[in-house]
Amino acid sequence: MEIARAPRGRRRKDLNSTKSPGTGVGDAAGPVENLGQSAVDAATAEQIERAAQLLHAGALIAFPTETVYGLGADARNADAVRRIFAAKGRPAEHPVIVHLASADLMPRWAREIDASAQALARAFWPGPLTLILPRAATVLDVVTGGQDSVGLRVPGHPVAQALLARLLDLGGDGIAAPSANRFGRISATNARHVAEEFGDAVAMVLDGGSSRHGIESTIVDLTSGEPALLRPGAITVEALGRVLGAAPRLPSSQSPRASGTLASHYAPQAAARLIAPHELIHALATLTKPVARIAVLARSVAKPTKFSGSWIDAPRESAAYAQELYANLRTLDTRGADEIWIETPPDGPDWVAVNDRLRRATHRQL
Ligand code: TXA
Ligand code: MG
Repeated sequence: MEIARAPRGRRRKDLNSTKSPGTGVGDAAGPVENLGQSAVDAATAEQIERAAQLLHAGALIAFPTETVYGLGADARNADAVRRIFAAKGRPAEHPVIVHLASADLMPRWAREIDASAQALARAFWPGPLTLILPRAATVLDVVTGGQDSVGLRVPGHPVAQALLARLLDLGGDGIAAPSANRFGRISATNARHVAEEFGDAVAMVLDGGSSRHGIESTIVDLTSGEPALLRPGAITVEALGRVLGAAPRLPSSQSPRASGTLASHYAPQAAARLIAPHELIHALATLTKPVARIAVLARSVAKPTKFSGSWIDAPRESAAYAQELYANLRTLDTRGADEIWIETPPDGPDWVAVNDRLRRATHRQL
C-alpha cells in the first residue's frame, strides 16, 4: 500500500534539536515538557510503525485525518489521554473522540449500537462522521469527560488507517484524538501547522499532506433515541437524512457538552468579522483605516486595485473553500492585521458547515 505521500513543508525537521531527544515513553505521569522533541515526519511505513510504538508506550502523536489533524493518545491509557488535555490547554470535562480501525470495534466502546448507528457507520465510515453512542463500562472517564456517552469515528485517511491497524496489532484498540490545536484556536490541517501549535509537546507529527475536507467531522448524537446533529461537517444533514429516513434534530441546549459547539471556538487571533459581498465592496471603497491593518478573505468580490493589504481569494465552491479555510485564516492571521474581513459565503446546504465555523471564528464581533 502506498502510504507515504510526498511531504509538503518540512521534512524530519527537528523543532527542538538543542534538547536531548526523548519520546515521552516511561514518564506516564510526567509533565508535558518532558515529552521529547517534536519532529515532522513524512508518513512512511517506517514512521507509522514508530508512531504506533510511541502511542502504545503512552506518548502523544499528531497524525493526519481527512478532516483535520488529530492529537492522539492510546485511548485505553488514562495518563496518555490526560496529556492531550495538558498539551491543548483544554478543560478536563470535555470529551474526546475515539478513532477506530474499523466499525467492527464499536462493541468494545459502545454498549448499545442501534439501527441508526449501524446504518450511519455502514454508509459513511471510514469517513468524516463521528457518532456519539452510550459508552461501554470500560471506557475511561478521561475520554468521555465523565459523560455516559462516547464519540467514535473511523477515519478514512490512509495514514490514520495504517496507524490504527498497527496499534491494533500491538493490542491497542483506539486512538483518543481531538483536533491538533490549542484550545479555542483554529484546527490544524497540515503537519506544519500542528508543529507550530505544539512545538515539543508532542513526540512526533506524522505528515500526511493537507487534510482533504479541512473542517472537523460531522457529529451525530445517537444517545437519546432520536438522532441529533451536534456539529455540521462534510457529511451534510441531507446525506444523513437519506440514510436515517429523516433529517436529524438540530442542536439544542440539552445537547451533551462539545467544545466545538462553544460559541467562540475556532477563533483566529485578529478580530474577524463577516461582511456581505455588497457591504465588503462598499467598505473597501470607503476605507478610512490604514489599509495594512485590514486582511481580507474574499470569495466573489474582486480586489480593488488600490487595496494593498493582505488579500486571499478563497475558492468559490464550498468543498474547496472548506478545505483551505483554516489555512487561509492562519495565513491572514500571521500578517499582523487588526481585523480580518471575511466575505460572507452563500447560504444553502453545502455551506452549512463552513458558515458554522465562520460564525464561531467571528463570534467576538457579534
Ligand atoms: O474531525 C474530527 O472530528 C477531528 C479529527 C481529529 O477526528 N477531531 C475533532 O475533535 O474535531 P475535537 O475534540 O476537536 O472535537 C470533537 C468534538 C468536541 O466538541 C467534543 O466535545 C465532542 O466532539 N465529543 C466527543 N465525545 C463526545 C461525547 N461523548 N459526547 C458529546 N460530545 C462529544
Ligand atoms: Mg477541536
